[in-house]
Amino acid sequence: MDRETFLTRKRYNRTSKFYDWMDRMISSDLREKTLSQATGKVLEVGVGTGKNLEYYPLDCNIIGVDLSPGMLNRAKERAKLLKHPVKLLEMDAQNLNFQNDTFDTVVATCVFCSVPDPIRGLKEIKRVCRPQGKVILLEHVRSDNLVFGKIMDILDPLTVRMMGPHINRRTIENIDKAGLRIKSVEDQHLKILKLIIAEP
Ligand SMILES: C[S@@+](CC[C@H](N)C(=O)[O-])C[C@H]1O[C@@H](n2cnc3c(N)ncnc32)[C@H](O)[C@@H]1O
Repeated sequence: MDRETFLTRKRYNRTSKFYDWMDRMISSDLREKTLSQATGKVLEVGVGTGKNLEYYPLDCNIIGVDLSPGMLNRAKERAKLLKHPVKLLEMDAQNLNFQNDTFDTVVATCVFCSVPDPIRGLKEIKRVCRPQGKVILLEHVRSDNLVFGKIMDILDPLTVRMMGPHINRRTIENIDKAGLRIKSVEDQHLKILKLIIAEP
């Protein structure tokens, strides 16, 4: 594991103790709208404390992976209350331990702000998603607004060290660079949070 990945894991292990209390980025309505689009065999990358799990359709077969054991332990507690079985594994998004073309749907919500090499992680998603499959991403990105974007650049080193996420990632560009085909982008809060549907 490289140093940046090691540090990301360490930061999220720390953040896991207050993540559920602190996180207000995604409303439950938006989680429901996002996850209702998942079908079949699903991989959720960066499953975190499992906040999405209750919103998947009941016939989905879900595997959730995360870099941080601290976050995963919370997700495991949550998964006990669910009606459908979920498998939770410690794994790095930059190096997914699955064969090519394994999943019908790959999901990540507010994850590629934190993966140290996001293009490598997005390429892994493309690899493990079936050719006819769907990639669902809900990600916050650097603002296009000149002033707000600059403020995000200045604050970024702080947010990374304090909690884990970069706030100035250009994730739409990264998705494109990873070779995923973007089908739609729907702006959410302040155009910073985006619901992106893509194909491998
Ligand atoms: C901001 S949290 C989002 C958690 C969850 N997806 C949600 O919507 O609440 C980011 C998550 O990505 C995970 N993460 C960061 N880098 C990762 C990597 N390289 N591989 C897998 N998970 C990673 C973190 O451990 C953390 O759980």
